[in-house]
Amino acid sequence: MTATGSPKSPSARIKLEVSAEPALRQIPAEELAALQPTIEAINALKIERNAIVLAHNYMTPDIYHTVADITGDSLALAQEAARTDADVIVLAGVHFMAETAKITCPDKTVLIPDPEAGCSLAESITAADIRLLRQRYPGVPVVCYVNTTAEVKAEVDICCTSSNALQVVESLPGDRVIFLPDQYLGAWVATQTTKQVIRWQGACEVHERFTGAELRDYRAQFEGISIIAHPECPPDVLAEADYVGSTSGMINWVKGNRPNRVVMVTECSMSDNVAVEVPDVEFIRPCNLCPHMKRITLDKIRRSLETMTTEVLVPADVAARARRSVDRMLEISAAPSVTAVGAPVAR
Ligand code: 13P
Ligand code: SF4
Repeated sequence: MTATGSPKSPSARIKLEVSAEPALRQIPAEELAALQPTIEAINALKIERNAIVLAHNYMTPDIYHTVADITGDSLALAQEAARTDADVIVLAGVHFMAETAKITCPDKTVLIPDPEAGCSLAESITAADIRLLRQRYPGVPVVCYVNTTAEVKAEVDICCTSSNALQVVESLPGDRVIFLPDQYLGAWVATQTTKQVIRWQGACEVHERFTGAELRDYRAQFEGISIIAHPECPPDVLAEADYVGSTSGMINWVKGNRPNRVVMVTECSMSDNVAVEVPDVEFIRPCNLCPHMKRITLDKIRRSLETMTTEVLVPADVAARARRSVDRMLEISAAPSVTAVGAPVAR
């Protein structure tokens, strides 16, 4: 699995040449024609502001294939934020991702096109909860999934993403670890480590809706189907999967393995985005949408760059403490031996 983001073609930063972009065939021609002025305005504003659009893999194809300079999973977006020389970062994703970008580069202007784009996991735990956990389990290292607020990141020892959770847990001393807030990612890590994983009971409102029974139905209905799942899914779902990994891990698995048929058990824009790059693969597409990710639209990206809003700010003392947790994760993830949560599952 690669942990780095996918840079888009140079046309993402300059005037859009529709005919030169096979990926745009995913978007109906009439729709694309209507979007064209907005796309061109965004690409012009990016040049004017020396801005870059970092887009999560769950963005809709009109964002993913046109104005995004980098697409990727949470880890890749954090890594790219840390290394870009742009002055302005527009984070086409949810609020914790924009905060993470601000934490890694406090001198840059970080914009989120809709500040209401939250996350059920980030909302499930507070900094005060971490302080209580530390009292209850003195000396036990605390890992937080990157899907948390800056205040929570400031209280923990290290962050992780779905791409490096196992690697982060294994890097810590002792035989116990507190893992939060995603109970299912924590449970998945626990199946692969000898450490005791003490878990918070948060969940992703999108992934917890999938069921193992639904996936068994797909296997019965669609011969030869491959099932690949995000580790935010419940254990009965992951037990049915041929591969478990981060959003980028899943994309790379499909590109590398070219299954005849596949179901990506995650937010549904992912299949739309990848399908166009692997026309030989048939995608079965259950649609669980993330309402927070779907708040980000091309119009809002344009307005964000026009008005330089909404700027994401993190108080300096919180940012400094949160940065230690993020930097520790980035140091570990920079190491070449990434054996992430997305290791193939033997069936
Ligand atoms: P990834 O880090 O795998 O992209 O996951 C982020 C996320 O919010 C998935 O729901
Ligand atoms: Fe949060 Fe789930 Fe949406 Fe990801 S899909 S941003 S974990 S609510």
